[in-house]
Amino acid sequence: MNVLILGSGGREHAFAWKIAQSKQLENLYIAPGNAGTALCGTNVAIQVNDFEAIKKLVWEKGIDLVLVGPEDPLVNGIHDFFLNDDVLKDVAVIGPKKDGALIEGSKDFSKRLMEKYKIPTASFMSFTKNNLEEGYKFLETLKPPYVLKADGLAAGKGVLILDDLNEAKTELKNMLLDAKFGNASATVVIEEFLHGIELSVFVLTDGKSYKILPAAKDYKRIGEGDKGLNTGGMGAVSPVAFADKDFIKKVEEKVVIPTINGLRSEGIDYRGFIFVGLMNCNGEPFVIEYNCRMGDPETEVVIPRIKSDLLDLLDGVAKQTLHEKTFEVINETATTVVLVSGGYPEDYEKGKVVKGLDSIKESQVFHSGTILKNDEVLTSGGRVFAITSFSNSIEGAVNKSMKAAQQIQYDKKYYRKDIGQDLINWKN
Ligand code: AMP
Ligand code: GLY
Repeated sequence: MNVLILGSGGREHAFAWKIAQSKQLENLYIAPGNAGTALCGTNVAIQVNDFEAIKKLVWEKGIDLVLVGPEDPLVNGIHDFFLNDDVLKDVAVIGPKKDGALIEGSKDFSKRLMEKYKIPTASFMSFTKNNLEEGYKFLETLKPPYVLKADGLAAGKGVLILDDLNEAKTELKNMLLDAKFGNASATVVIEEFLHGIELSVFVLTDGKSYKILPAAKDYKRIGEGDKGLNTGGMGAVSPVAFADKDFIKKVEEKVVIPTINGLRSEGIDYRGFIFVGLMNCNGEPFVIEYNCRMGDPETEVVIPRIKSDLLDLLDGVAKQTLHEKTFEVINETATTVVLVSGGYPEDYEKGKVVKGLDSIKESQVFHSGTILKNDEVLTSGGRVFAITSFSNSIEGAVNKSMKAAQQIQYDKKYYRKDIGQDLINWKN
């Protein structure tokens, strides 16, 4: 098979690394890719939302399967674009059509889906500028902290959690009347605050059957001890001690099966990944959000833990034969530690020369924000690398990642040194 992966982060490098190991692969292309994906296949300088340029590439290279990494092209309808085009309609696209991508593209849609199919989630109500006063009244019925969510995509910044009622009312007004997040906050979901511990569960589905992939915990804040600004993710661990077999069984029965059946009942033929962001509240799963893609950096621990041929599984998704595929997981612990550019998630410098990559022997380095220039690897983004290691314990895996984090050098490197520490002595 000839495969095209869309995207340029650590997630896409992890996909490329895994698919490059498949016996079914002929040629692998990544658009636009990074300095790491260039080691697994051929990078092509096309942006993920340039559907016409992607069409030309798919046609020229005889691509059989397109794996869409980020949510943007999915929400913008890349899968629909393929299906509506005579040249592209038989090319497999992994990732939902516009209707399915709404699970991430609209919080209001996803909450209504959960409500209709009795999937456990925080109680909620949605508001627009036409019923702002009712929004204030609803806030008054809730206990702090108050959770306000812009309905649409807001570059990961559309969720506000506020302790003060008046501040919550002001922010609701800012979102609805003053377009704080542009059109994304024309509708706002207000919901009950859930107390518990967060984790992510990933599902691969062909719309009928599914495989539950390994669960992971992400470390979202920039600072150690989960302090400071939110980031795309500073590290991840899989498996997660507080998501044991019994808990995952509950997730399967109460969340995964009703979600897949619910999407089908709504007439949505969903083929791709579902990222379920969950809160474990005293052993019970509650859905915080869905994403229509894999997580980053979670992919960098989840995909390496899959023993089976990923391309074979994706082929099963495209042909709706996923139920025939075996799915095996590696039982060891994987951790990933993200190296970022100093200043991230605010302003940071790019173009720093990276040294020391060749000295890493015990870990797999996935590139995120890197480019190749005259045979040198340069930093080109906020998150630069995700260093993944395996061991039979979290300590063992994290120690390897930390050692590699020291060996990689570039100006203003920063990383969290406490990834996984909270899980080391975890007792359920
Ligand atoms: P989301 O974009 O929906 O994932 O929200 C961003 C983050 O806000 C989540 O990862 C949670 O940490 C937090 N969050 C969202 N909704 C809730 C909720 N109902 N209760 C507690 N925390 C929440
Ligand atoms: N790491 C969280 C995300 O990919 O959205």
